[in-house]
Formats: sequence, structure tokens, C-alpha cells
Amino acid sequence: MYIPREERYQDMIYRRCGHSGLKLPAISLGLWHNFGAITPFEQQRAVLCAAFDAGITHFDLANNYGPPYGEAERNFGEHMKRDFKPYRDELIISTKAGFDMWPGPYGDHGSRKYLMASLDQSLKRMNLEYVDIFYHHRPDPETPIEETMLALHDIVKSGKALYVGISNYSAEQAQAAIETLGAMGTHMLIHQPNYSMMNRRPEQGLTDVLREKGVGMIAFGPLAGGLLTGKYNAGIPSDSRAAKDPRFLKPGDITPEKLNTVARLKDIAQARGQSLPQLALSWTLRDPVVTSALIGASKPEQIRENVQALEKLSFTPEELSAIDAVLNA
Ligand SMILES: NC(=O)c1ccc[n+]([C@@H]2O[C@H](COP(=O)([O-])OP(=O)(O)OC[C@H]3O[C@@H](n4cnc5c(N)ncnc54)[C@H](OP(=O)(O)O)[C@@H]3O)[C@@H](O)[C@H]2O)c1
Repeated sequence: MYIPREERYQDMIYRRCGHSGLKLPAISLGLWHNFGAITPFEQQRAVLCAAFDAGITHFDLANNYGPPYGEAERNFGEHMKRDFKPYRDELIISTKAGFDMWPGPYGDHGSRKYLMASLDQSLKRMNLEYVDIFYHHRPDPETPIEETMLALHDIVKSGKALYVGISNYSAEQAQAAIETLGAMGTHMLIHQPNYSMMNRRPEQGLTDVLREKGVGMIAFGPLAGGLLTGKYNAGIPSDSRAAKDPRFLKPGDITPEKLNTVARLKDIAQARGQSLPQLALSWTLRDPVVTSALIGASKPEQIRENVQALEKLSFTPEELSAIDAVLNA
């Protein structure tokens, strides 16, 4: 039986999510990889337990995480039943719909029909009565924003989600969504964009919109899928994502230019007394508009290394300039 570490809340930092009552751990765990049918159940359990023991109270899912689609939610439902049920009120569990999930015109994009049905399916797979956060996973230019936002508003009213968010929306799309939902009387809790040292696009307008509107931001992929850990600088390790599950991190994407950038960042990390993943996470969290850095992990040791980033969150202006120089080169 899993007994969580008693001191689990001592070292984690909890940050307020925009203008809301909800705090999230500065580091959250996503189940996009490592929770499908190709990962042993006990390995998944070890990662989840290590996360909760470290004070990571937020687990992020989506309808189509796997493989196959739905499998991460199904496995998570089993972990809930076996280990985490007594801690439901200590957990923030999110899921999403917006990408392809089932065949035909109602299993993709942003219609009310898709979002409502998908959330019901997710709740069944996860053995949950409600999720804490439900996201529209990507913008859908063909569905009126009013329809998608009304579905989110009604989902909150139904009690099937306590809060709602959006993901992968541009600054302009996010502003329209936040205002449309707000006019219905529901506050947009959070936005989930990709943000890391390898992708600084949210700095070009999105973070300003979120700050102004009091919406939190959870940065997904802060380690660029593992690239920003330095693990690929001496070739592709056999137990890494690029070797085992290269659906989204293809060996061809790991270019000499990126590896050179990573090597230079590693020198900066060393000078700060951090490991490279710790530097990447501290950097992602340097702007308070970023509520949480949403990592993935295949091993419990990765969680334990990554949460130590929180011991050194501040940067000198010289360190930030040195990082900018590497990233802009
Ligand atoms: N909203 C969206 O559209 C969207 C899209 C993508 C992701 N997400 C969310 O963001 C979450 C995180 O995405 P991600 O997994 O790509 O994030 P990431 O944190 O950039 O990459 C995580 C991977 O890096 C490696 N790693 C982590 N810590 C390490 C360490 N200390 N040392 C060595 N390797 C380490 C592990 O891969 P190995 O297998 O190589 O060990 C791990 O699975 C997802 O689970 C999901 O919840 C959302």
C-alpha cells in the first residue's frame, strides 16, 4: 500500500494561478508519455508516487494520451483506485479535448457535442466524478468561439469540472476566448502553451494578455521533451524518449545546432550550481505569470532531480543576458 511522504508539502512551492483562489505546484506532472500501454504499470506508479511525495499535487492528462488513445486516463484511473483515492482532495487533475479522439465529425476540434461527450468519457476512464480543470486543447477556427466557451461555461455549471482553461491558443485567440467566457460569468483559470528555452513564442504577446486578464499559465514541455536535459549530447540513450517512443521527438529533430545550444547552456547551469534540467525549469519559472512548469518523467529519479530546481529560482541580470546570448545565437 502506498503511504505518501509526510513532509511532502515542505519543499514544494505553490503559486497562485492568475486571479483565482487556486494554487498549483511550481512543478506539475503530465501523463502524455510514459503512461500508455508501452510502459509497465509499476514504472508508472513509481513516477506518480515520487511526484506526490515531492509535493506535486497536479497531474495533467488529455483524452488522447496513450498510446493507444485513452490509455493514460485508463491507467491513471487504476492508479487512483489503488493508491490515490484517499488523496483526491489533495490533487488537481486536469484533462482536455480538442485533438482527434474518435472517428467521424464529432470526435475532434471544438464543438459543444465533442467537448461534452469527451469529458464524460474521460471521467469514466479515470473513475472520477469531476476533474479540477478541463481544457479546450487547441483553437478551432471553424467553430464559433461562443459555442466552445459556452460549452466550457456549462461544464463548470454542471460540476464536472471545477475550472476551465485553454491550450495552444495564440495571444489574440486567448484574449477573445477569455473575454467571451468572462462575459458569460466564468473566469478562464489557465492557459497551457508550449514554453521553454527552445520556444519563447509566448513572450511575444501571450504572457502580456494573461497577466492583464489575471489568467495563469502552465508551461508545457519546459525540458523540450528531454533535449534540455543534455541527455542527447552524447548520442541517443536507449532508454530515452527519442529511442523508445519517438512519435513527437524524432532523432532527426535533434540537430547539431540544438545540441550546441544545449552544451553552452550546460556551462551556465554548472556555474549556477544547478544541473541543466534544473536551469531550464528555473528559467521557465522566472516570470511570475508562469504558475507552473509542466514536466514529463519516465523515472522517479527525474522527478527528484527536477524539483530541486526550486532551490534556485532567482537569476542575476548577467546570468539572464548570458542565457539570452546563447538562445539568440
Ligand atoms: N497542451 C498540449 O498540447 C501539450 C502538448 C505536449 C505536452 N503537454 C503536457 O506537458 C507535459 C510534459 O510534456 P513533455 O513530457 O514533453 O515535457 P518535458 O518536461 O519537456 O520532457 C519530459 C521528458 O524529459 C525527460 N526528462 C525529464 N526530466 C529529466 C531529467 N532530470 N533527466 C533526464 N531526462 C529527463 C524524460 O524523457 P525520457 O523518456 O527520455 O526519460 C521526460 O519524459 C505532458 O505530459 C502533457 O501533460 C501538453
